[in-house]
Amino acid sequence: MTGVPEPVGESGPAAPLLELRGVGKSYGTIDALRGVDLVADAGQVTCVLGDNGAGKSTLIKIISGLHRHTAGELLVNGRPTSFASPRDAQDAGIATVYQDLALAPLMSVWRNFFLGHEITRRPFGRLDIARMIRTTDEALRGMGIEIADLDRPVGSLSGGQRQVVAIARALHFGARVLILDEPTAALGVKQSGVVLRYLARARDAGVAVVFVTHNPHHAWLVGDHFVVLALGRVVLDGSTADLTLDQLTAEMAGGAELTELRHELGA
Ligand SMILES: Nc1ncnc2c1ncn2[C@@H]1O[C@H](COP(=O)(O)OP(=O)(O)OP(=O)(O)O)[C@@H](O)[C@H]1O
Ligand SMILES: [Mg+2]
Repeated sequence: MTGVPEPVGESGPAAPLLELRGVGKSYGTIDALRGVDLVADAGQVTCVLGDNGAGKSTLIKIISGLHRHTAGELLVNGRPTSFASPRDAQDAGIATVYQDLALAPLMSVWRNFFLGHEITRRPFGRLDIARMIRTTDEALRGMGIEIADLDRPVGSLSGGQRQVVAIARALHFGARVLILDEPTAALGVKQSGVVLRYLARARDAGVAVVFVTHNPHHAWLVGDHFVVLALGRVVLDGSTADLTLDQLTAEMAGGAELTELRHELGA
């Protein structure tokens, strides 16, 4: 992190784990995000929806330390924060599972599980392979995942299994905010169900989940809060208490606000 975050009046147990206030991001002359507000609370699933080019990935990259925002504030536990690198975001308890880059396909399941967290043995610092395999097995079984041979390359698992291993890994290493970029985009109904169940498990374990998706039905199955982006702006922000699935679906399909916005921006 760049410098020690300054404590602010709102910090304390009631502050959300993660908050974006008026966040903007310009790539040269392109405004990918403008004035975006987002809150991710512990034990809640916040869904970020939007059409192609809406700014979803840009938002994720800012939260996970890959890009810096050019306007607004990012707060972690109520403290203004700026991540200089993905490592900073990880150190703050933020784990991101990318759709395709979640795991290294040629490496074994256990090796992927411990990537960046390898256990070594004293005094020579050799890898403690037996312990890593055992721990991976325990962690996956603890989450109800059965993978018979943990020496298998991750690339030989199904898309759903890969996502679930990546989620289990993030939880095992203490993620408090879990960001998933389109985890069900390439999956069929059954595999999507597998991933959505684990996403709900993470939420039930008290993790703040940020679920990025094109699919309002998937969002509705697990979401507590919904933020719809269009052309980099928030066009809908609501929860299960004040929204219906029909409204969410209509907004995704291109609601009145989107048409108005296109008009205003001349897009
Ligand atoms: N590195 C970049 N340089 C310049 N423009 C970019 C860059 N990354 C994204 N953009 C632009 O910013 C806007 C938002 O893109 P972003 O990838 O965040 O959208 P998205 O909602 O993730 O879209 P998709 O659903 O297609 O993944 C788009 O206009 C895109 O062309
Ligand atoms: Mg994207």
